[in-house]
Amino acid sequence: MKPGTARFQRAEAALEASVRQTIGSRKGQPKHAGSVRSLVLILGKAVPELLAIINCSQLVTLAGPARARVGPELRELSIISDGAMLVRGDRIEKVGARAEIEPLINAVCEVMDAGGRLVMPGFVDAHTHPVFAGTRADEFAERVAGTTYQQIAARGGGIQSTVRATRAATQDDLVEIAKRYARWFLRGGTTTIEAKSGYGLSVEDELKILRAIKRLGEDAETHLRYVPTFLGAHEVPEEYRSRREAYIELLIEEMIPLISEQKLAECCDVFCEQNVFSVAESRQILSAARTKGMRLRLHADQFSLSGGAKLAAELGTATADHLEHTDAEGIGALKAANVQPVLLPASVYALGSARYPAARAMIDAGLAIVLATDFNPGSSPTTSMPLVLSLASTQMKVLPEEAISAVTINAAYSLGRGEQIGSLETGKLADFVIHDVQDYRHLAYFFGREHAWKVYVGGRPAFAL
Ligand code: NIG
Ligand code: FE
Repeated sequence: MKPGTARFQRAEAALEASVRQTIGSRKGQPKHAGSVRSLVLILGKAVPELLAIINCSQLVTLAGPARARVGPELRELSIISDGAMLVRGDRIEKVGARAEIEPLINAVCEVMDAGGRLVMPGFVDAHTHPVFAGTRADEFAERVAGTTYQQIAARGGGIQSTVRATRAATQDDLVEIAKRYARWFLRGGTTTIEAKSGYGLSVEDELKILRAIKRLGEDAETHLRYVPTFLGAHEVPEEYRSRREAYIELLIEEMIPLISEQKLAECCDVFCEQNVFSVAESRQILSAARTKGMRLRLHADQFSLSGGAKLAAELGTATADHLEHTDAEGIGALKAANVQPVLLPASVYALGSARYPAARAMIDAGLAIVLATDFNPGSSPTTSMPLVLSLASTQMKVLPEEAISAVTINAAYSLGRGEQIGSLETGKLADFVIHDVQDYRHLAYFFGREHAWKVYVGGRPAFAL
């Protein structure tokens, strides 16, 4: 069987039709089969019963130990040249060389010819703030003219201005706005995001955001997967400025118990920074979340060495995020406590700073680094993981293969999803991307564009060029 033959062209046409069909279908109302030979319903979503991906120049599987990768392991991508993959329903059945997979292709099997392109797991973006109203393009222009992010925050702009816009929006508005960003993530090859609340800062508005995230995750049109995080401690809201202890009490006594009871967030995060939440306050809030069974994350040392990394180590959080100012002592503490650093170079870039986190020192110390976008309307208005890969290599000297591990398998483990996603291995969810390049290094090398050609979430077409 050769690519370009009539059989492959027919298979490709069938897949294109299935992409159009399934993308247009609504939950519980899959369109009729006809152009798709065999569909099964998984959680109300139509997926081909059997799907073979063949002719992959590189099938980057990330197969390896069932844990986040460290040190030299970060460079081991387990690549199969001229690889192929068999998907049954929403799961990966088998990966291997073309000769191993092709004999398994039967009459009901859809065949997707990757045309000699790169195939790899979907990106897992482990730090995003994707539910908000409005933009901050006005502040962007001000920052270009010289005002700093912190100066804008101090006069009531920044996060507070997005809070005002988000409070004024309905849950339906927020879902519609976020659906557009979901399409941006998918178009870039991202199949799972961690999604923080944090632009509500009241019981009602934080619940509104977390419920919007829940709806997005359940929506049949929105193929992206969401892992919800409660970030009510993103800022002290205006109405509590003169009595911040009362806001902390509200977080601990009302919001955290309610959100955990309603199972609206898996993780809890705090913005630990000068003029935001102190180390002592962050400790108090995260300790309360822990008693409710939430996993912990922390915005740490972003603008100053404020003790965030050390606090993350003390509490044994899953991740410590940002770390632009973390020193050798902080890195040592993270290592001793097995905390994963989540590095966010796009926010450094977008703020016009040159202060990137010490990624090389962290890798050398044996930390299981993660790279993410930090998508948000203020410090990082990008959904692009290829941009993050480029910045990681050029600005932080992270090798292309280390960066690939950081945005797939390590990111998945940081979200407690390492058993399901982040690598292409038998039994895992079929979340994968065919990129329109031949080599994984091209993702960062050809910078300033998205490379995804076809994106699948749980075996289902989620984006196609
Ligand atoms: O991760 N540092 C705090 N939170 C975001 C910024 C959010 C905003 O500016 O709206 C961050 O960079
Ligand atoms: Fe953030």
